Amino acid sequence: MNGVLASEKLIKAREYENRKQKEIPQGQKPAFHVSAPIGWINDPNGFSLYKGEYHLFYQYHPYSTNWGPMHWGHSKTDDFIKWDQLPAAIAPDEEYDQQGCFSGSAVEHEGRHILMYTGVQDKVLEDGTKVSRQTQCIAAGDGYNYEKLSCNPVIQSWQLPEGSSAVDFRDPKIWKEGEVFYAVVGSRHEDNSGQIALFSSKDLKEWEFVSILERCNNQYGLMWECPDFFLLDGKYVLLTSPQEMRSEGLEFHNGNGTMYLIGNYDREQQDFSREGVGSIDYGLDFYAPQTVLTEDGRRVMIGWMQSWDNHMVPQGFEWSGMMTIPRELTIKNGRLCQNPVREIENYYQNPVTYKDIIADKPLELKGIRGRELDMTIDVEAGYYGCFRINLAHSEKYSTSICYDLSKNTLTFDRNYSGLKRDVIYQRSMYVKNQDGKIRIRILMDKYSVEVFVNDGEQAMTSIIHTPIESDRIVFGGEGNVKFHVTKNDVVV
Ligand code: FRU
Repeated sequence: MNGVLASEKLIKAREYENRKQKEIPQGQKPAFHVSAPIGWINDPNGFSLYKGEYHLFYQYHPYSTNWGPMHWGHSKTDDFIKWDQLPAAIAPDEEYDQQGCFSGSAVEHEGRHILMYTGVQDKVLEDGTKVSRQTQCIAAGDGYNYEKLSCNPVIQSWQLPEGSSAVDFRDPKIWKEGEVFYAVVGSRHEDNSGQIALFSSKDLKEWEFVSILERCNNQYGLMWECPDFFLLDGKYVLLTSPQEMRSEGLEFHNGNGTMYLIGNYDREQQDFSREGVGSIDYGLDFYAPQTVLTEDGRRVMIGWMQSWDNHMVPQGFEWSGMMTIPRELTIKNGRLCQNPVREIENYYQNPVTYKDIIADKPLELKGIRGRELDMTIDVEAGYYGCFRINLAHSEKYSTSICYDLSKNTLTFDRNYSGLKRDVIYQRSMYVKNQDGKIRIRILMDKYSVEVFVNDGEQAMTSIIHTPIESDRIVFGGEGNVKFHVTKNDVVV
């Protein structure tokens, strides 16, 4: 352990994952997405650049395919497509994190890799009542082994303004500006709604409360989880994942959603003022995204490709949970846009292009099929009813993406995608009205479908359980739909 003493819990987790990972059948895992080594993963954590490599951690319970006492799992990459699995980084082995090492982030400092996370502890008060406490903690390491600071926890809920909850205070996102560290932390106000607290520190050990950056005021869900805050294309962007949201037309959906707020940040007043708000992703499975700034200045976001309410594990799988493809963020016309990292093109094989195809009846195109691919379809402007793509298709199964021109909606439907439970299977979003013209980019990696519309103006991410042999792709439409398509296999 390079001088760092691993706790029994961490040694046990590392031994277990090492042994059990080898039992997963070859080819069952996604090819170019991070997935659970074994057991369960949720939120991406600690997405950071350390000594020239990108590290990604995640909420991790190695011992079952369900959520349990949270460890941090660990992977790294130098191009966001090909990932190396590393041993679990931290385990819930201290009094202050005995109930779990919850979500957090990471930063490089003086050659060390600094992890900041939420420690969860159940406490019994003097009157016998049991309460759960969330505090912010730090571990430092070398990219492989990590040691928790002896001064943990470094931020406690009493540092929040009056009227803030001690129970919901989590998911610090740390960054460094000059000599000062900042962290935004999700918190809950006593009116039950979310707020984002900003803290600063000069030495990582002593932290001061700076301001409440933004408040939900019971407008968008309740507790705001997993905040991130950064400068992008001249604006400030706040990402958060609100719990218990309510549908607002097709913009937000019920349950755990995701939201971006774009605006300005007044440094003097430490105040953020929002100009625009929107869904980060409109699919069935997307939550808790986090970003990293790359060496060449790109802001890259990764999310958990799963929904809390729709969790399902295919029969016989001993792992559960995947991350999205890392996505480059930009702001276009006041909207947060996202496109898969450009590095994916280095893994393209077997390109196939068709031009001027008319889809007035179901149609398959030679060379266009598969479950690990990146495909872009350009539909031309025109008068037609709808345009449909059926993926992971066979006699028995089909996953459909349908653009309805009269309503200007794109609908994803996984009713026939191998689900064995009666869960939500369909979601729609409004897209820009361009007289029928639409660009749809689809990334598939075995059990996931990520859809990017009009050069990343909107994204729609969902998982499917369709047996892998169902790999046909069928195009179709009502009316005279003309389109062009290019498909590349992604081979890692
Ligand atoms: C979000 C979340 C976080 C928390 C973590 C626990 O999905 O609820 O707020 O830190 O998951 O695993």
